[in-house]
Amino acid sequence: MLKPAPSMNPASLSLNRISKVFPGVRALSSVSIKLYPGQVTALVGENGAGKSTLVKVLTGIYQPDEGNIELDGVTQTFASPIDAARAGITAIHQETVLFDELSIAENIFIGHAPRNRFGLIDWRTMNRRAAELLDRIGATVNPATLLRDLGIANKHLVAIARALSVDASVVIMDEPTAALSHKEIEELYQLVEQLKVAGKAILFISHKFDEIFRIADRYSVFRDGELVGEGMIDQTSSGKLVELMVGRSVDSVFPPRTNELGEEIMRVDGFSHPTEFEDISFTLRRGEILGFYGLVGAGRSELMQALFGVTRPSAGSLQMGVEKIVIDSPADAIARGLVYVPEDRGRQGAITGLPIVDNVALPSLSQTSKNGFVRMAREFALARQYTRRLELKAAALDQNVAQLSGGNQQKVVIAKWLATRPTVIILDEPTKGIDIGSKAAVHAFMRELASQGLAVIMVSSEIPEIIGMADRVIVMREGRAVGAFERDELSPEALVVAAAGIEDERVA
Ligand SMILES: Nc1ncnc2c1ncn2[C@@H]1O[C@H](COP(=O)(O)OP(=O)(O)OP(=O)(O)O)[C@@H](O)[C@H]1O
Ligand SMILES: [Mg+2]
Repeated sequence: MLKPAPSMNPASLSLNRISKVFPGVRALSSVSIKLYPGQVTALVGENGAGKSTLVKVLTGIYQPDEGNIELDGVTQTFASPIDAARAGITAIHQETVLFDELSIAENIFIGHAPRNRFGLIDWRTMNRRAAELLDRIGATVNPATLLRDLGIANKHLVAIARALSVDASVVIMDEPTAALSHKEIEELYQLVEQLKVAGKAILFISHKFDEIFRIADRYSVFRDGELVGEGMIDQTSSGKLVELMVGRSVDSVFPPRTNELGEEIMRVDGFSHPTEFEDISFTLRRGEILGFYGLVGAGRSELMQALFGVTRPSAGSLQMGVEKIVIDSPADAIARGLVYVPEDRGRQGAITGLPIVDNVALPSLSQTSKNGFVRMAREFALARQYTRRLELKAAALDQNVAQLSGGNQQKVVIAKWLATRPTVIILDEPTKGIDIGSKAAVHAFMRELASQGLAVIMVSSEIPEIIGMADRVIVMREGRAVGAFERDELSPEALVVAAAGIEDERVA
C-alpha cells in the first residue's frame, strides 16, 4: 500500500456515512465529510438541508442513527457536548447557547473556569483571560458585564471567545457572521485566518457567498440531508454552488416596483431617545418600501423599537394617516396596524413550543370565530397561504417551531406578522439566515404585498438587498439620520460613505 506523501495533510476529522432521522424528516442521509488541519471547509445548503444537524451530531448534542466520527483515525462516540469538547471539537452554534444572568467571563469559561489551589474559581485570572480573548477578537466589552446587558452582536462575540477559550483542534462556525457588523465581520475573517495558520480544521456554515469564496478552501453542499457535491473552492463558482444547493438556477434579480405609491400613511417628526437616537424624521407612503441602512449600533433597531412602543421616545411625534398618535406598547401598535419583526427572532419572535399553524394564525384569527372546526380550518388555510409564499420547509403545519431549522423559524415569524395584514410592517434584517433561493421568494412576496398597499420599513445591513428592494433609503450613523437617497441616487459607495462617516473625517 502506498503511504501518503509526507507533505499531505492527514484528514483530522472524518464523518463517515452519518444518518439522522427525526419524525417525518430524514435530516441527514449517509453523509460523509472530511475536515483537514489548516483548512476551511464551507458547508452550504438551503434552509433545512441538515447543516446544523450535522454540527449537533459533531458536538455530541445529537447521537447519529448510523455512521461514525473519526478523529485522527480513532473512532469517537460523543455521548454529550462535554465529550466532544474534551476531544477538541468546539462550535459556535447558530442559536447561541449562553446564559443571560451570568457575566461575560463566566459565559466564556463555564465548565472550564480557572481555579486556584483551593479548587475555587479564580475570578481574577478568569476575568483577565476573558479580557485577553475579547481583545483578540476586537470586542470592547468589560468581562464583568452581565450577558443580558449586551446586544446581539456582542453576544455573538462572547460565543466566539468561548470557542477560542478551549484549545480545540476542530472549530465549527454555524453562520457566525449573521449578527455581526462589517467591521466585526472583517475581524472574524482575520480570526479564521489565525486559526488556519494555527493548524485548526474549520467547518464554516454560511449563506453568504462572498464570504465563502473569501475564506474557504473547500466546500461541501447539502441538499435535503444528502451530500450532493464537494471540492476545492477555487474550482467552482457561486452559480455552480447554487445549482447544487437548489437543483436549479436561481434568478437573483430583485423584483422591480410596478405600483404607483399611494397616500402618506405615516409621518415621524423629530423622534428622539435619551441615549440611542436623535431627531429622526421621515414619511412613508402606501406601497412604499423604505430602507434603513447603517452599521450595527447605528440606532436603527432602537428607533424601530420606539416606533413599535417597546421603548418611549423622549421627544418627537408620530402620525399615522391623518391622526397624531402616541403608541405606549407593542399591543397598541399592533392594534393600529403597525407591526415589527425584530432582528433577534429567537427571543422575540416565534413561540417555539407551539405548532407552526398556531404561531402564524393565532395573532390574526384568535378573535374571529367561536366555532372550533371552522376556526381550525381557517387557521390552517391562512398558515398554508403565508408559509407557502415564503417557501417554508416543514414536515407538517402542526409541527412545533422548535423542530424547524434556523432559517425556517425566521420564515414563520415573518409569515405570522404578514398574516395580520398590517398597514405598516417594519422588517429588521428580513433575510438574515435565509438561503439564497428562499431570499428571492421573500423579496417577491414583500414587493407583491407592497403593490397591494402595504407600507414597508426595511432595516438591512445587506447593500444588495437595500439597493434592490428599497424605493428610498435613510442612512443612520450614531443615532442620527445622516443621509437620504432616492432610488436613482443609490449606489454601494454612497451608502458606505454615509454610514461610515467617511466624508466627515475628510473635512476634519
Ligand atoms: N429536533 C428536531 N426535531 C425534528 N426535526 C428536526 C429537529 N431538528 C432539526 N429538524 C429538521 O431537520 C431538518 C434539518 O434541519 P437543520 O437545522 O439541520 O437545517 P439547516 O441546514 O441548519 O438550515 P438553516 O440554514 O435554516 O439553519 C429540517 O427539516 C428540520 O426541520
Ligand atoms: Mg442551521
